Amino acid sequence: LSIILSLFISCYCSKYSALPKLNNTKDVEAFIDSAEVVVIGFLEGEESHGYKELVAAAKRVSSVPAAICTVKEVWADYNIASDSIALFRKADNHQENIVLSKIKKLETDGLVNFISINELRYITEYNQVTAVGLFNSEVKTHLLFFANRGSKEYLELKERLGALAPEYTGKFLFVLINGAVKSNLKSLNYFGLKPQDLPRVGIYDGDSDMKWLLPEGEISTERVREFCESFLRGELKEVKQAGAEAKTEL
Ligand SMILES: *[C@@H]1O[C@H](CO)[C@@H](O)[C@H](O)[C@H]1NC(C)=O
Repeated sequence: LSIILSLFISCYCSKYSALPKLNNTKDVEAFIDSAEVVVIGFLEGEESHGYKELVAAAKRVSSVPAAICTVKEVWADYNIASDSIALFRKADNHQENIVLSKIKKLETDGLVNFISINELRYITEYNQVTAVGLFNSEVKTHLLFFANRGSKEYLELKERLGALAPEYTGKFLFVLINGAVKSNLKSLNYFGLKPQDLPRVGIYDGDSDMKWLLPEGEISTERVREFCESFLRGELKEVKQAGAEAKTEL
């Protein structure tokens, strides 16, 4: 009985667990800085429309910390004029808002979707959901890391490139394309690659719709950095592009 009772209590309590409260701009800044992606409900109070949905969504997307700020003097620092839910991320230094008065109805599913789409990290795994967020970003150049999940170098290289990504905030989004899933074969093919050719690194520039591969060899921080720099210096435009057909959607 005591086990059942404690289970009941823990479910009951977690169902109504409150979000952390941010009381001033310093709290908000610290919270934004605490993770690559965070969500903050700028809501009048816990009774406000959106609060329950935010609590429920935060539980489902546990990779993104959520908090609430009810202090209106603080809202102005984030250009918030009325009850809103805002996502802050470091990868492109972006704030994305849902203004509650501007939407018909906020539902937990919709909020989970909003967070998942916009959950761009220093290195973001490409899939149908993140594709939307990636292509909505103002940063149109992607440093692509093609690798097969489960291969021996996968985690080490992901970590190595993830550590390089902050140097290129606002210039590149670092995107991981897992060659071990079938739905990504189109992206590989676009670069003239097959799963057995991986790991490889490429650049896709959305502004010019051009793409290049880092020549085969060790994927070291130095080589990838030099690859990024040569793009930024405009030198890659003189270099032969990757892949056969020039015009296919990624
Ligand atoms: C904000 O104030 C509440 C109540 O005074 C307190 O419990 C909470 O810890 C404070 N938040 C932060 C981030 O310090």
